[in-house]
Amino acid sequence: MRRTMTEDGQPQVTITHTLSALHVQVSFETGNGVLKEAMDKETLMDVLPWFVVGAVIVITFIVEWFSRVAAIKRRYQVPGLNRESIKEGNLPRMVAAGSVHAFLEQLHAQFGPVASFWWGPRYCVSVCEQGAFEQYIFGVEHKPADIYQPLEHVFGSDCVFFTPESDVVARRNIYNISFYNQTSLERHFRCFQRVADEMLETLKHVTEDDHVATSDVMSSYAMKAVLYSLCGDTTLPDSDIRFLQQTSASICSLIEEMLLKPTSEERSALIRTEQEKIRDLLGDVVSDRKDHSPEADDKLFIDHVIDGEVPLSDLITYLLLGCYKTSNLLSWAVYYLCRHTDVQSKLHEEIQTILGDEHMTLASIPRLEYMQQVLNETMRRSALVPWTARVKAGPCLLGGYKVPGQTPVILALGIAGRNPEVFCEPEKFDPDRFSIENTQLQKPLSFVPFGFPGNRKCPADLFSFAHASVALVTILRNFRIKMVTEQDVKPMHGFVTIPSEEIWLTLLKR
Ligand code: HEM
Ligand SMILES: *[C@@H]1O[C@H](CO)[C@@H](O)[C@H](O)[C@H]1NC(C)=O
Ligand SMILES: *[C@@H]1O[C@H](CO)[C@@H](O)[C@H](O)[C@H]1NC(C)=O
Ligand SMILES: *[C@@H]1O[C@H](CO)[C@@H](O)[C@H](O)[C@H]1NC(C)=O
Repeated sequence: MRRTMTEDGQPQVTITHTLSALHVQVSFETGNGVLKEAMDKETLMDVLPWFVVGAVIVITFIVEWFSRVAAIKRRYQVPGLNRESIKEGNLPRMVAAGSVHAFLEQLHAQFGPVASFWWGPRYCVSVCEQGAFEQYIFGVEHKPADIYQPLEHVFGSDCVFFTPESDVVARRNIYNISFYNQTSLERHFRCFQRVADEMLETLKHVTEDDHVATSDVMSSYAMKAVLYSLCGDTTLPDSDIRFLQQTSASICSLIEEMLLKPTSEERSALIRTEQEKIRDLLGDVVSDRKDHSPEADDKLFIDHVIDGEVPLSDLITYLLLGCYKTSNLLSWAVYYLCRHTDVQSKLHEEIQTILGDEHMTLASIPRLEYMQQVLNETMRRSALVPWTARVKAGPCLLGGYKVPGQTPVILALGIAGRNPEVFCEPEKFDPDRFSIENTQLQKPLSFVPFGFPGNRKCPADLFSFAHASVALVTILRNFRIKMVTEQDVKPMHGFVTIPSEEIWLTLLKR
């Protein structure tokens, strides 16, 4: 008998045992010549039924054994889709669903909160519930490069999404200095206020008969606010800022398509051209900045690029993605405030009560409690950033199922925000879900619009709250906002969820 040592150990050895036993039985049954001759017919007739019975028992045993092993294996395997082909996996189905988010909705509806599928040739697991998030996420700070691979063309192969595991902490340290240090936040805030005042100047010329394109106003505010926060006062002409603004929207809206149809060379070439233009433009901004180096303790993000602490690709990522996310957050907020005039009135009241005629400051933000509720509900209801992904080197258990090491795990944040057990009537826009009392009832990680605590959480969470609050306070103090016609705007889910059509506004002076 051969004893092969395998990693699996026991089952493999048992198979060998059983098969040898069968082999002995079979050779007995056919017999060898000597034995056959020695037996007379009667003995053979006596023995044959026993052989048959024995063989039947052995075969039954083997079949039973194999099916049990298969059942145990199935029990541990994450339920999910079979692939449609080796190369494409479930991509055709994902494309048919229209977005990763919509596909994940179908997947989880069919297979429950922990489900598997094939992203192209890649086996993936997706999770959409607080319990599973909690089980998986802690200490997992790596991103699956093969899932995010199309972003290489968009932001560069050394951008934050592809940070090697050994560099995560060092790079995150710089992001933290740029986004969490009190001094940096104060400076960002002043930037936002200045750009918001500029926006107000333009809006003051708008008459009540004018139709204002929300996305135009918001992306212009967002690009300037993010650009000046990261790079300081640039000498870029308005035409260049407009180019960045448009490229941010056009490039970021292509990401989803690239994730679902990874092979279009034509599109990749187009994006490479755009990226090169942006690289050149920001290269000039960087050289300009080099000539006016700041005090050592007053560094902006761009100065960390100049010092080689983070790559230029990061600046591009933060600028384009940051503008895209914040401008769409604001567009959705404006949309919901128009649809829900009671919420708009209540928010305006809060602004009046807390701020009166005073200037807003960074310290006002935590005091604007209802503003935070409105922004949180906006991110939840729109599923602004619908998913993120991580990967763990070793195997793990998720919801009782085995997930092999190196499996990309999709964290379906947008679906978690629609869980009716946490958010009753999830389709309803209701900022009161985030009142202090109601928030206390939610388990940790029930609502994670910016991702998960640790070094891979969105570094711009406080930044975004400040950015959006300044814009909304500035607008609502001066205007009542209304849609030109009652639009029922559908979300277009992508890497970021955006309104599927332009939202046309009327501004009524207060
Ligand atoms: C406006 C609201 C925003 C939302 C809802 C949002 C959401 C997210 C989420 C969910 C992640 C993934 C986190 C994770 O995997 O745990 C993320 C990552 C990231 N966000 Fe944001 N974000 C927003 C604004 C911004 C802004 C304004 C910037 C840049 C200025 C930014 C830059 C980034 C970057 C660079 C990452 C990748 C971090 C890493 O992988 O280490 N985000 N964001
Ligand atoms: C924030 O950065 C400034 C310099 O920009 C530094 O002096 C200060 O110690 C930092 N604060 C914290 C809390 O790290
Ligand atoms: C809004 O959501 C953020 C992120 O989860 C959370 O830290 C904050 O407490 C929430 N604010 C309110 C008022 O619910
Ligand atoms: C950066 O800040 C986040 C959130 O405050 C924290 O969890 C993380 O440990 C910090 N990372 C580094 C490298 O400082």
